[in-house]
Amino acid sequence: MTDFPHTPPKQSWTFSNDVNAEIRRAAATGIYDIRGGGSKRRLPHFDDLLFLGASISRYPLEGYREKCATDVWLGTRYAKKPIHLDIPVTIAGMSFGALSGPAKEALGRGASAAGTSTTTGDGGMTEEERGHSRTLVYQYLPSRYGMNPDDLRRADAIEVVVGQGAKPGGGGMLLGQKISDRVAMMRNLPKGIDQRSACRHPDWTGPDDLEIKILEIREITNWEKPIYIKIGGARPYYDTALAVKAGADVVVLDGMQGGTAATQDVFIENVGMPILACIPQAVKALQDLGMHREVQLIVSGGIRTGADVAKAMALGADAVAIGTGALIALGDNDPALEAEYQKLGTTAGAYDDWHEGRDPAGITTQDPALFSRFDPILGGRRLKNYLKVMTLEAQTIARACGKNHLHNLEPEDLCALNIEAAAMAGVPLAGTSWIPGRNGTF
Ligand SMILES: Cc1cc2nc3c(=O)[nH]c(=O)nc-3n(C[C@H](O)[C@H](O)[C@H](O)COP(=O)(O)O)c2cc1C
Repeated sequence: MTDFPHTPPKQSWTFSNDVNAEIRRAAATGIYDIRGGGSKRRLPHFDDLLFLGASISRYPLEGYREKCATDVWLGTRYAKKPIHLDIPVTIAGMSFGALSGPAKEALGRGASAAGTSTTTGDGGMTEEERGHSRTLVYQYLPSRYGMNPDDLRRADAIEVVVGQGAKPGGGGMLLGQKISDRVAMMRNLPKGIDQRSACRHPDWTGPDDLEIKILEIREITNWEKPIYIKIGGARPYYDTALAVKAGADVVVLDGMQGGTAATQDVFIENVGMPILACIPQAVKALQDLGMHREVQLIVSGGIRTGADVAKAMALGADAVAIGTGALIALGDNDPALEAEYQKLGTTAGAYDDWHEGRDPAGITTQDPALFSRFDPILGGRRLKNYLKVMTLEAQTIARACGKNHLHNLEPEDLCALNIEAAAMAGVPLAGTSWIPGRNGTF
């Protein structure tokens, strides 16, 4: 025994309690962790940017008297029938299979009431969604699940999915628990068996083939529908340029914060780039090709508020897409269901085992007892309200920057709070004129 005080026990930062728990889980089960949602680590994000607002050198607009428009045209490059949306916040592709039928209906109801579009997903077009969506984008995916040429014609636009931000280079998963009779029938799969989607599209091997595929789709749809190409945030400069070369009307760019229905945790957390780093590269590719605003850019991955919308647009996006935010608006992870989350061994706000299909909110499930709890009319109303608030927030900021349209926001309206965000977003570090990696000086 010594009289000297002991040094308090130290936890290792490298082998933290979280890391050790995952090692124990792996050791006990021998399987990797699958979950839904997006990256949970702290990443450079829109929170690291601020708007400068107006002062003597900039003239703000008056909120109650001066308009700030929010509409957007998508697909003006080649499509005979481009899409016109009232607001630049769209609903991202989320599969029927991952989501219940009533959840799909609610997305259609909410988006239509707010004047925007919804998107199908890896699993085909449901009547719930088509019937309630004023503007529906139909995904054409590597898995070809639910692919139907008649549905291509029933859609308002077509989104060729090359990748997703949560898993660029990886395919989707839908575990057997969620493959009900209806999901199996729509995907042409056996019931109750785990399914892993292809990571590569069987119809092309590179941009030249993709161009041919897109021409085929245009022929099938009489050159009417805008064709989007969705890419995960991996090499956004080259991928955007190649998407334009392949004939895209719209590029959809999804950063690594982007949600997924089910993927390996190691993939979600370790592959891809934050959306903040992706947008300027994609915009640069469009500008270098003389195609900025000619080919529209929709960005997604962790967009939550009107401030995020405004920042994405100031960096050069034409519109944004939301997945996780829309699900939370519908009622996902609601603390009112805490007792039920506890029974599943989790807590409200952290529930991400969407692949298990036991969602007490009735959103990420195919169990009739659970999805019949979800009210699509109420869910749709909540989503409409959320979209309305996001739009009002973005307008408030745009007016303060003196802009009469959200599209007039520009990088000049922004500054960054730290060097990482300044370098990634290509805007000056606050209080300086320094853009790291661009002009090299303060
Ligand atoms: C439940 C769920 C299902 C999804 N299913 C698909 C899909 O079928 N096809 C696809 O391209 N992306 C899918 N995604 C990704 C979204 O389209 C979008 O890229 C992402 O959710 C955007 O990021 P956010 O969730 O942070 O808003 C899914 C996302 C979620 C949350």
